[in-house]
Amino acid sequence: MSIPVPHSTLPLGGRHLVLGLSGGIACYKSAELLRELTRAGASVQVVMTDAACHFITPVTMQALSGLPVVTSQWDAREPNNMAHINLSREADAILVAPASADFIAQIAQGRADEMLSLLCIARPVESCPLLLAPAMNREMWAHPATRRNVAQVLADGALLLGPGSGDQACGEVGDGRMLEATELRDELIAFFQPKLLAGKRLLITAGPTFEPIDPVRGITNRSSGKMGFAIARAAQEAGAEVTLVAGPVALATPRHVRRIDVQSALQMFDAVLPLAPGFDVFVGTAAVADWRPVTAADQKIKKDGSGVVPTLAFTENPDILASVARLNPPPFCVGFAAESQDVARHAREKLVRKHLPLVVGNLGPATFGRDDNSLLLIDAEGERALPTADKLSLARELVREIAERLGRSGSPA
Ligand code: CTP
Repeated sequence: MSIPVPHSTLPLGGRHLVLGLSGGIACYKSAELLRELTRAGASVQVVMTDAACHFITPVTMQALSGLPVVTSQWDAREPNNMAHINLSREADAILVAPASADFIAQIAQGRADEMLSLLCIARPVESCPLLLAPAMNREMWAHPATRRNVAQVLADGALLLGPGSGDQACGEVGDGRMLEATELRDELIAFFQPKLLAGKRLLITAGPTFEPIDPVRGITNRSSGKMGFAIARAAQEAGAEVTLVAGPVALATPRHVRRIDVQSALQMFDAVLPLAPGFDVFVGTAAVADWRPVTAADQKIKKDGSGVVPTLAFTENPDILASVARLNPPPFCVGFAAESQDVARHAREKLVRKHLPLVVGNLGPATFGRDDNSLLLIDAEGERALPTADKLSLARELVREIAERLGRSGSPA
């Protein structure tokens, strides 16, 4: 079968996947998943079990993938009549979504009496990983037989994506839901990222802080947190265990990232400092307020009609990044410098003043809230400009730079 040429600048560009469907109501999500995978640049060959064809037709999956769906090991379209061999040799991975309890049982036992299980068993395990997205009723997922089978397929080298928890098609609530199409797409994208930070622990601050004046007012800034969240995601994709300390932002937590929400600079300081000694890398992307009102009123400050305006007295907030960099030994500390002009000079000045191995400069007003940015990396040796790109691509590049420096310093962590 001919494989369509994928788009190489997309996150799954250049990847060829086999998407297997076994029987389950979650098959209705597989059409959307196929859309997401192809939108992300992958070419996808769909393989369906007989049971899956009861839930969704191969016609839909053929139309969305642009390739005829394979449903039988007796399909004579392959010149050598060995679709199970050919398909698994061409694929970068096999994703079975949904993977039913019965399908997982078949794989656990090495049974290969229909096309999809045959393909999974016949795959070269080193070059064609098997990813399973379980989908079943919560009692089936919890059943001792399923537990045994899942343990066996994991021991045999398969990877599990999910399952999620929540409302089930049967009306019950619990574990066993197939992950959503976008979640599975993101799991695939993460799976193919090089594991440059495997075994490393990364702590990151992101977003603005909010310094209260009274119970309804406060001082904050225009940081959206997007760059920090993108770095958290990129580091997690690269295999790091990531903790994200976030100021008030309206962003979804990247998958598998631990998030601690705070409001003020003091709360951020109190969250970060006790944790920091256990981390290999600290990245300060937060736009921490430099000053806070000396006191926050307990009750809303009222206008009394006299025309006298309140006067606010400020005090300086602790510098979280500089405090982490003063630990002995410090994690590898990366500072951000959001400037309105003269990025290189200000960023270098922060590198020296805060004793940092790496500072990332950017033009704050030009990037706040946007999905793209351009960065200037400054260290003791020089500068490297990362031209305008989406924040996730820049984050992946920054992760590469951090990993390279950790390797260079021979960090044992
Ligand atoms: N930072 C921090 N805690 C603070 C202030 C800043 O951790 N109280 C961190 C930021 O997260 C960022 C870096 O320090 O990584 C640079 O912060 P910035 O506010 O731009 O630098 P300042 O040293 O405060 O200098 P200025 O405000 O004069 O630019």
